[in-house]
Amino acid sequence: MGQILAIVSQKGGVGKTTTAVNLGAAFARRGLKTLIVDVDPQGSVRYGAALKKGHGTHGFADYLNGSRPLRDVILPTALPWLRVMLVGTVTDDADHSDYSRRIAEGDLLPKMLEAARERCDIVVVDTPPGLGPITRRALASSDRVLVPLQCEPLVLQTTPQILRGIQDAVSHHPHLTLDGILLTMYEAGVPACERTEKYLRGHLPKSMVFDLVIPRSAAVSEAFAAGQPAVLRAPSDPGSQAYIHLAALLAERFAK
Ligand SMILES: Nc1ncnc2c1ncn2[C@@H]1O[C@H](COP(=O)(O)OP(=O)(O)OP(=O)(O)O)[C@@H](O)[C@H]1O
Ligand SMILES: [Mg+2]
Repeated sequence: MGQILAIVSQKGGVGKTTTAVNLGAAFARRGLKTLIVDVDPQGSVRYGAALKKGHGTHGFADYLNGSRPLRDVILPTALPWLRVMLVGTVTDDADHSDYSRRIAEGDLLPKMLEAARERCDIVVVDTPPGLGPITRRALASSDRVLVPLQCEPLVLQTTPQILRGIQDAVSHHPHLTLDGILLTMYEAGVPACERTEKYLRGHLPKSMVFDLVIPRSAAVSEAFAAGQPAVLRAPSDPGSQAYIHLAALLAERFAK
């Protein structure tokens, strides 16, 4: 049975999707059978997940509304062990309320994740920003959660709120393990960033924050824009290396 790892944060734009696609690809590079599932109606996974040319744009939302069978929305990628389930054509709609309601009120999300867990070693779930109904539903079916946190001074003000959110989510779902807070877009030598890191490590339990950080790297954002995880396009880049090390660390943890 595989592990379901949700990538979650209250804040938008902190590197959730970048983390989901790079970690997913890094797991697959290790030979772990991996599925990345996008449940965020923004649908950003499709841009950076090494999908094969000419891939379909249908996804989970199209399965959810009955217009596609599940097998049609599991897409192959450039990596043999990596599959992707996009969020689907809901991305083109201005109004995502029907999609959200179907998730909140139905049981197809937990059922789909359960089926994926049986077939995969790791299922990485990319969620929308915030702890709204979609994210909560994903957390209810997940084994583990990873929280990316962008290394910026605002963190000093928002940490208590972030902590409350995580504790609230974990307390609602006793089966859920917090794998850790992951500092992203880290800029060594930038005093504001280093101060932020120092503050976080000083105020949060050591086990709650990963020792490794994801550096800010042009290769990471450029790879995404070019349709690929950086761990495939530029594996020796420091950002890619950080994701590769993180995948190794998590794979070892999951195997215990
Ligand atoms: N390590 C990094 N180095 C440089 N740029 C990065 C890095 N991580 C993420 N970015 C860039 O930051 C932006 C936000 O990243 P991403 O889309 O992964 O965040 P998100 O948390 O998924 O956002 P949303 O909340 O909107 O879903 C993107 O332009 C991405 O390319
Ligand atoms: Mg995202």
